[in-house]
Amino acid sequence: MLIGIARETFPDEKRVALVPAAVPMLVERGHAVRIETGAGLAAGYPDAAYREQKAEIITARDAVVSAADVVFAVRAGGANPERGAADLGFLRPEQTLIGFLEPFDTDNAAALARTGVTAFALELIPRISRAQSMDALSSMASLAGYKAVLLAANALPKLFPMMITAAGSLSAARVFVVGAGVAGLQACATAKRLGAVVSAYDVRPTVREQVESVGARFVAFDLDTGDSEDAGGYARDRGDDFYRRQQRAMAQVVARQDVVITTAAVPGKTAPVLITEDMVRAMPPGSVLVDLAAERGGNCSLTRPGETVQAHGVTILGPVNLPAALPHHASQMLSKNITALFLHLFGAEGGRKVRDAQDAIYKGALMCTRGAVVHPMLLQPAGPVA
Ligand code: NAI
Repeated sequence: MLIGIARETFPDEKRVALVPAAVPMLVERGHAVRIETGAGLAAGYPDAAYREQKAEIITARDAVVSAADVVFAVRAGGANPERGAADLGFLRPEQTLIGFLEPFDTDNAAALARTGVTAFALELIPRISRAQSMDALSSMASLAGYKAVLLAANALPKLFPMMITAAGSLSAARVFVVGAGVAGLQACATAKRLGAVVSAYDVRPTVREQVESVGARFVAFDLDTGDSEDAGGYARDRGDDFYRRQQRAMAQVVARQDVVITTAAVPGKTAPVLITEDMVRAMPPGSVLVDLAAERGGNCSLTRPGETVQAHGVTILGPVNLPAALPHHASQMLSKNITALFLHLFGAEGGRKVRDAQDAIYKGALMCTRGAVVHPMLLQPAGPVA
């Protein structure tokens, strides 16, 4: 099969969906790889590196996208709604698309479906152990958790580690992480490595052990968290009353922190507001809040996605697309995840046949096919094939 990788067009997107080192694995299995010139450059992968691995480099974007049997993309569909719209005209019903597609954006999901393409959204890959090598959301969240701590350290007018110097002792920064999923645990581990005193809270009490295993303290609140976890291991939406009780419980802890990093997410929902303006007001002057949930509305009521807000002496960062700030390793991880999904779907030996439709990964990640959005979580009519 011909696999096509075009240059990403989303603003400031520096990742690429396939790195040169992953090309041989595909070529050896009878596939061909075609790359738009410069596709990997911003991530540190020049055309020559792809060519060395026997990928074909092409200048015309349409010759990459429309000729490919399978298109690998970092961002397409709703994940690149404006500039990506131009590519919709290149897609055909016989093709397969794999990438971040923002499937919950219903208008753009419908527009993608109308091309007739069969699209697998990385966001929908089930978090089951069999799919771990394909779990691109986790790969990216882990990088975001790491980078969030660096942003916080940079914005904080204090050091992270304790220091005993000839000029006196300096105390360690206190870091509190809300939501100890993939991003949160990586944030805990990174802050700990930098010498901060780290604590974390999650609505799923089962994560206590994981928090402690990276050297952070788990903060427990007296809240009923009995049914906080769904069958997939994700948090359930608990409703506004629960979040108000949670805000009250967390207020005192938040008020003692130099850094708060929030990552609380419920799949397919806007992020719960867990930090109110009053809670920000009570934080020490100069403290920093990094809201990783900014793209989903934010865990802090003052967050503005993509912006830095100064409020009550506190710096509130709402970074978006953080993995694109680490494009080299982000691309390496994504490439591994996408290739693993592709080989799972099409079989290891160059086959054209898509895997059994009852397979949990196939069913879980399939967003649209034959002109319609088909994933049960997204189901709604998408109009005829264009
Ligand atoms: P995850 O699902 O692994 O973790 C989220 C955690 O939040 C879960 O452990 C969940 O139990 C917890 N949680 C949910 N509601 C909570 C509540 N009310 N109180 C405390 N904890 C609660 O998700 P992951 O992969 O770690 O991603 C975390 C966030 O980071 C997401 O919002 C994701 O969109 C965001 N993200 C942001 C990026 C950026 O560039 N800003 C990049 C990658 C991820």
